[in-house]
Amino acid sequence: ATKCWTEFIHFLLNTTTLPQVSDGAAAALPLHRRRRRSWVWNQFFVLEEYTGEEPLYVGKLHSDLDKGDGEVKYVLTGEGATSIFTIDEETGDIHATKKLDREQQAYYTLRAQARDRHTDRPLEPESQFVIKVQDINDNEPKFLDGPYTARVAERSPIGTSVVTVVATDFDDPTYGHSARLAYSILQGHPYFSVEPKTGVVRTALPDMDREVRDRYLLVIQAKDMIGQMGGLSGTTSVTVILTDVNDNPPHFPRKSYQFRVPESVLVTSVVAKVRAMDQDVGPNAEMDYRILDGDGTFRILTDQDTQAGLVTLYKPLDFETKSSYTLRIEASNRYVDTLYLSTGSFTDETTVKLLVENVDEPPVFSSPVNRMKVSEAAPVGSSVGTVVAHDPDSLNSPIRYSIDRQSDVERYFDIHSSSGLIRTNRHLDREISALHNITVVATESLDRSQVGKAVVLISVMDVNDNAPTFATEYQTFVCENATPGQVIEILSAVDPDEPVNGHHFLFSLNTETVNNLSFTLRDNNDNTASILTLRGGFLQQVHPLHFLPVVISDGGSPSLSSTNTLTITVCNCDTHGNQQHCSQGMSMQLPGIFSTLISIPLTCIITLLGTSSKLEK
Ligand SMILES: *[C@@H]1O[C@H](CO)[C@@H](O)[C@H](O)[C@H]1NC(C)=O
Repeated sequence: ATKCWTEFIHFLLNTTTLPQVSDGAAAALPLHRRRRRSWVWNQFFVLEEYTGEEPLYVGKLHSDLDKGDGEVKYVLTGEGATSIFTIDEETGDIHATKKLDREQQAYYTLRAQARDRHTDRPLEPESQFVIKVQDINDNEPKFLDGPYTARVAERSPIGTSVVTVVATDFDDPTYGHSARLAYSILQGHPYFSVEPKTGVVRTALPDMDREVRDRYLLVIQAKDMIGQMGGLSGTTSVTVILTDVNDNPPHFPRKSYQFRVPESVLVTSVVAKVRAMDQDVGPNAEMDYRILDGDGTFRILTDQDTQAGLVTLYKPLDFETKSSYTLRIEASNRYVDTLYLSTGSFTDETTVKLLVENVDEPPVFSSPVNRMKVSEAAPVGSSVGTVVAHDPDSLNSPIRYSIDRQSDVERYFDIHSSSGLIRTNRHLDREISALHNITVVATESLDRSQVGKAVVLISVMDVNDNAPTFATEYQTFVCENATPGQVIEILSAVDPDEPVNGHHFLFSLNTETVNNLSFTLRDNNDNTASILTLRGGFLQQVHPLHFLPVVISDGGSPSLSSTNTLTITVCNCDTHGNQQHCSQGMSMQLPGIFSTLISIPLTCIITLLGTSSKLEK
């Protein structure tokens, strides 16, 4: 029903067959003259970007009911009706009053109606139709992602893909060639090429060398109409950066180097620095260095920041022993690309000569630490030992020896200034100081500023010069109700001497008291002795204290002994032997003088004992 009243007039689909459009009327083509079958019934076509002065004729609506007598009125509604499109009420002619842009809006959907002019009654049902905007090539291709930066390894083979460029054309891709692009390279020949259809940029020369040129600026063009004359075009730039491969070996700028090194330089110091150059970069320029010959005095390692080789001292230098060294040093790339190994060796060699410089050195002792021994019994002036120092310089100055007085404030020792012989200057006592740590000084007599030092450790050897004594002050008591044979004390002893085989103390009662009828002593042969009662019936009132002289001998050679008097207090005890009451008081140390006796000659002790026995009576 729709078709029977509306006749649509179309443009042909292919613009090349269009007649010359000079004004609005000529732009339309009556349906009956159309030969192509590809038109669509309910579509009009209108050319975009029309710039003529007159409104552009789009087409004509016509109802079969229209007898041409002006009784029918055509009405247009929908998208752009009145604002863009106008219709002649009487003739049904449709015009576009504005320039259209397909890339903004490609279709307009409108409705048409035929009405009775007088009653305004619809004569036909409303019909919908489309005005399609016809594309012209009014958009040039654009590289939306450009400009590009791409990387490719130097020396890549011909045809290596670098990057793909893409241009976009907003014209109608389904119609004509307005959006069909062809890529070409405007700048970058002969190094690079671009595939016309795909936009893939490839290398076009072999052996492009980064070390010669590392960067190319390409200009790529995209042109529509498949690149033909009259097409629109756009361009983009591609910066191609060649990346490094290890195609250059290391190279020493010089075949030999010479350095001066003072002999006093410390071990681990850097004494020389050499650097092999490499045109590559990054890991491809990283170096390993090696000393090809050498006696182990030097080592070489790589400074990771500069890739220089640092020759480092590993053993002390001595000008007087060896005054120059010649080292052959090899540099090699740490990472080698096997592809380029065939182009030659990736190592280089140079010679480093090190001249050792003489330095005036202080005297040197034959040993920095010297151990000596001397007996504590040695008389003053005894030899202890000799130290030796010499001037390491060729001058070989005589040496004067002395003792650093800070290290021997008490002046136990002195040293012979020219022979280095150390002697005792005072009596030594191992029990006061068993080890003397003294510093000896050697001075060059020709240059007193050249001073060397050494430590001398003098051990004082023990002699048996101390007698044993009671280990503590015993507070011994005996109960009034004690029975004969009871152990009332176990004695032990101390001695400051240190015999090699340990102490073997011998305990006994002194000859005068061996016949004592109250107490006796039993040597337990384990450096202790037990004191036992010989009787019972001790009475505080009669005899509150008993004194028992005990002789302790250290069994050394010669043997030293002392007599130590044990004070025994008589106490009142309970049945368990716990003391209840001691008339003299347990803390009293009446004959204290005896318990502090240490090393008194025997004759002396006997005299004193006489005193003590008088006290006892
Ligand atoms: C001896 O003295 C020196 C310096 O005064 C010190 O370095 C060293 O450790 C001492 N040696 C001993 C065994 O005490």
